[in-house]
Amino acid sequence: MAEINKAIRGTADVLPNDSYKWQFVEQKMLETASLFGFKEIRVPVIEHTEVFTKSVGDTTDVVQKEMYTFNDKGDRSITLRPELTAGTVRAAIEHGLLNDALPLKVCYIGSCYRYEKPQAGRYREFHQFGVECFGAAVPAADAEVISLASRVLSNIGIKNLSLEINSIGCPECRKNYHAALKEYFEGNKELLCDTCKDRLDRNPMRILDCKCPECKKVAENAPVVIDYLCDDCAAHFEGVKKHLDAANMKYTVNPKIVRGLDYYTRTVFEFISGDIGAQATVCGGGRYDGLVGQMGGPKTAALGFAMGIERLMLVLDAQKAEFAPAKSCDVYIAPMGEAASLAATSLCTLLREEGFMALTDISGRGLKAQMKYADKIGAAFSAVIGDNELETGKCNLKNMQTGDTVEVSIPDGLVGAVYEAKISVMLEGIENATENFSVK
Ligand code: HAM
Repeated sequence: MAEINKAIRGTADVLPNDSYKWQFVEQKMLETASLFGFKEIRVPVIEHTEVFTKSVGDTTDVVQKEMYTFNDKGDRSITLRPELTAGTVRAAIEHGLLNDALPLKVCYIGSCYRYEKPQAGRYREFHQFGVECFGAAVPAADAEVISLASRVLSNIGIKNLSLEINSIGCPECRKNYHAALKEYFEGNKELLCDTCKDRLDRNPMRILDCKCPECKKVAENAPVVIDYLCDDCAAHFEGVKKHLDAANMKYTVNPKIVRGLDYYTRTVFEFISGDIGAQATVCGGGRYDGLVGQMGGPKTAALGFAMGIERLMLVLDAQKAEFAPAKSCDVYIAPMGEAASLAATSLCTLLREEGFMALTDISGRGLKAQMKYADKIGAAFSAVIGDNELETGKCNLKNMQTGDTVEVSIPDGLVGAVYEAKISVMLEGIENATENFSVK
């Protein structure tokens, strides 16, 4: 029986004390992408299965082994997205976005699902930030997208990454390459896994990214695609390298990068970290000039990348990155008694309208326990409100770090617009106090 108190294998919770790190990273990603002209797109988690089989490719590991596919109640085959490029292309075609001014530049953050063997950095539910750029055929586009990836990574504070690039050519140059690969693997056929034996005829390039150790070993000495590029693809790759140089980007050409998805053409690239073990690729992407046409849209050159947010978190942890601290409580209002509790509710409402994180008792605790709690959550200030404070319209605002107090006025009832003027005096009092105590 399923354990209902345990997350599904390969999935993870982001807990309240960690979510500010995710918020920081995601905000930097969207901010940086927007500097390059990318706008956010949000596409569904579920798509018709064909969206992925026709794009990612039915001979890839992702489609053959890793997709979460099921029939819905209308007997349609549905798949939880293993990545977001396919859905983004589907959306761009469906909504006619490719008929507008090009290039179309979109970015996304979303969860992905792959039935992989979980290990550090490899999960069944994970999250990607990515971008897709449509209608951009020239090498300057490749360099721009790669430098955006690099800028995102540096803006979130990731260090020590290496950028590896390759070109895997177009369908034309791939014909000769496939023939060479086939010949090579035919000679080692008995060492390949069953899936790869099948790939030998259908798509020999996919053997190169099989995860089986035996296939990996055989693939080590296989011919490399960069030696089979046609003139146009070779010229494009030279152009990409020149533009990367012009953008001051350091890279190495790794002829072994082929990427695990079928839609790529020409430039492919990966950012690799030396700090997180085997699952070291934090970002992968490339050009896919044939995909839009293949999925029924207008023939459109396109490219993009995606980065795994969990892997980035692992790198940030490994590099002991500093995050700006999460926002914590500005003022804790500790009421004593029913009337004070109403006053605290009004006061918190007003304080929050002024942009303060104001908290009060919602657990029915006594004063001592409330102050212990205020201390535990790191409240900067606290104010006790009881009958006396309600009567005098004044309370003591306490700096929780120094223990200093300052007297500020509060309105008698604290409820209703009649008292707003007085409230603003108190808010001013808090702001002054905050400045004087120089904690915030
Ligand atoms: P991908 O290489 O399959 O490419 O995934 C991109 C990134 O997602 C990887 O580099 C890795 O950081 C992260 N990732 C992949 N699988 C997992 C996993 N099981 N657990 C944790 N992280 C993972 C794509 O998905 C393409 N759609 C990228 C792209 C966009 N190409 C062009 N446009």
